[in-house]
Amino acid sequence: MIKKEGSFKYLEIKNISKNFGETFVLKNIHLDVFKGEFLCLLGPSGCGKTTLLRIISGLERQTNGDIVQDGLLISNSPTEKRDFGIVFQSYALFPNLNAKQNIAYGLENKKINKKEIEKRTNNLLRLVGLEKYSDQFPSQLSGGQQQRVALARAMALSPGLLLLDEPLSALDAQVRSKLRNEIKLIQKKLNLTTIMVTHDQTEALSMADRVVVMERGHIAQIGTPFELYKNPITPFVADFIGKMNLLKGKYDKKNCVFYYLNNRFLISQNTEYSFLENCLLGIRPEDIEIIKFRKNIEKEENILKVKIKEITYLGTIFRLTVVLESKLEENIFVDVISNQVISNNLKIGDFIDIKLKKEKIKLFESNL
Ligand SMILES: Nc1ncnc2c1ncn2[C@@H]1O[C@H](COP(=O)(O)OP(=O)(O)O)[C@@H](O)[C@H]1O
Ligand SMILES: [Mg+2]
Repeated sequence: MIKKEGSFKYLEIKNISKNFGETFVLKNIHLDVFKGEFLCLLGPSGCGKTTLLRIISGLERQTNGDIVQDGLLISNSPTEKRDFGIVFQSYALFPNLNAKQNIAYGLENKKINKKEIEKRTNNLLRLVGLEKYSDQFPSQLSGGQQQRVALARAMALSPGLLLLDEPLSALDAQVRSKLRNEIKLIQKKLNLTTIMVTHDQTEALSMADRVVVMERGHIAQIGTPFELYKNPITPFVADFIGKMNLLKGKYDKKNCVFYYLNNRFLISQNTEYSFLENCLLGIRPEDIEIIKFRKNIEKEENILKVKIKEITYLGTIFRLTVVLESKLEENIFVDVISNQVISNNLKIGDFIDIKLKKEKIKLFESNL
């Protein structure tokens, strides 16, 4: 759990807004980050993640709102007076300094004595697994190694806050996944409050204690990865965290029945749904069952007869893209374990019946 006993708000972002000229980039952002927490800002490109991170660091100034760090109001403090370390997507190392000198750079500027600098840089090199590379220059290091140096450099002055802006985006998949784990381990070991910006949901879900999903300059939802997956509050979050089918139709609240074209779907009794009849039915691809080989399906509820349009192999599962004959343009995704596809010999063009599990269905307000 994150909000454990004794945890306190280390960083408070209060009603932050930012506009560049006429354009609003951030609107009324409220966010508390707890001591030792790993928070991810997740959202599509252009939604304002970097701008928010830059405002926290003082590299950008907010139009409105306040920031409190460790009890101190820092809204108008210059960057150099703020207590943070930062890592960018581009490694931004000094090319003429070797790994060790890059890490030591900030320490030397602080007039810390040589022996102490030596000790600290050696510790940091060890922490990021680069003891053997201390004399190498950036051009002699791989992307992953350079990013390790950048991380060590950001932590050299033992900042209270670590800010990471897409630190892994430029790396190839294997290095990225390895570094993900390493960063997470280091962060937990040091109990270092961390905010990481990413547009990659896998990265956010696997690393963060809590994820802040951003959409066009505002916060769409905040929660643990599991909460966001289980209970997305908007269609945007539902489809951004994992995958969700969203079918537009009408809801008969009294009878808990949703109509999608000519099909009826029973919805579990749920008094939360207070909105009007036009809405979206949400269901995840793994919550749809294929019932091709079941008898007496006419007696079953929540069935759609569909045609297989595409079959994509995703490792342990296949993702089927299916369509209704009457609505060929609306894709519905169904995840099926590989064995089932093979043993049932499912092929493109086959007609199958799919069942939307009643208890897994969510309804969303439709803005369309
Ligand atoms: N200095 C700037 N001047 C004008 N517009 C900017 C500036 N910086 C960012 N923006 C705009 O603000 C929006 C959010 O940018 P950014 O915070 O970089 O998004 P993200 O990091 O989520 O991709 C974008 O539309 C971008 O074009
Ligand atoms: Mg960005």
